[in-house]
Amino acid sequence: MAVGVFDSGLGGLTVLDAAAQRLPDVPFVYLGDNAHAPYGVRTADDIFNLTCAAVERLWAEGCDLVILACNTASAAALKRMQETWVPKDKRVLGVFVPLIEALTERQWGDNSPPREVAVKHVALFATPATVASRAFQRELAFRAIGVDVEAQPCGGVVDAIEQGDEILAEALVRSHVEALKRRMPQPEAAILGCTHYPLMAAAFQEALGPGVKVYSQANLVAESLADYLTRRPEFLGPGQQSKFLTTGDAKSVSSKATQFLRRQITFEKA
Ligand code: DGL
Repeated sequence: MAVGVFDSGLGGLTVLDAAAQRLPDVPFVYLGDNAHAPYGVRTADDIFNLTCAAVERLWAEGCDLVILACNTASAAALKRMQETWVPKDKRVLGVFVPLIEALTERQWGDNSPPREVAVKHVALFATPATVASRAFQRELAFRAIGVDVEAQPCGGVVDAIEQGDEILAEALVRSHVEALKRRMPQPEAAILGCTHYPLMAAAFQEALGPGVKVYSQANLVAESLADYLTRRPEFLGPGQQSKFLTTGDAKSVSSKATQFLRRQITFEKA
């Protein structure tokens, strides 16, 4: 009854942690494509091909349902995968919609017309590929009107995290927040639209100031997964064992994951 969780690298561990806490009886198989991270600077075709290969690997582990715990893959590849590639007996879900539902105060499956919401000025921090896809603005427009979104492509942050360079990641976060604030001096809410960024949540909050509500995806996605599995328990696959897989070097990925999450995590080669 395992569920697969995929990210280009370490970021999806933030989602995995929240999902494992919310669903303690479900085994999770995590796959980080660390050999090919970051995805945020790749073309949409490249992201599609890499994501399909990773999802197939998770299906082979007995995970019929795979969460793309990666905004870049969710933004650049998921729609095409669902429309052209995923067979009927499998599911691949992304991380965008639960976040937008929280921001727009909607329940799952509420397909009523877009309406005014409390938050008017939203800062979006994401990878260059996610920002270029405009997927966030598209999904938001289905649900809300009158929301001004200013998007900041945060080049370099995922790379610094994947390399285990916390100091560089913090410095880059500060400079990206400053760049955004020059265009939108007073955002009411900030979206961490990349699953790596919760690892830098304190740096984002400090640079943004205490008045800005920072939304990150981990708990929202975990809640929405629990809800999905209650409605569709048939997508709990036959896999039995939790494990961490990487396409990169298992030893160095384990040590960086342990450093960022501050608990021991041991990866095996995918
Ligand atoms: N964690 C991925 C995301 O949510 C990072 C993408 C990347 O590899 O650049 O977008």
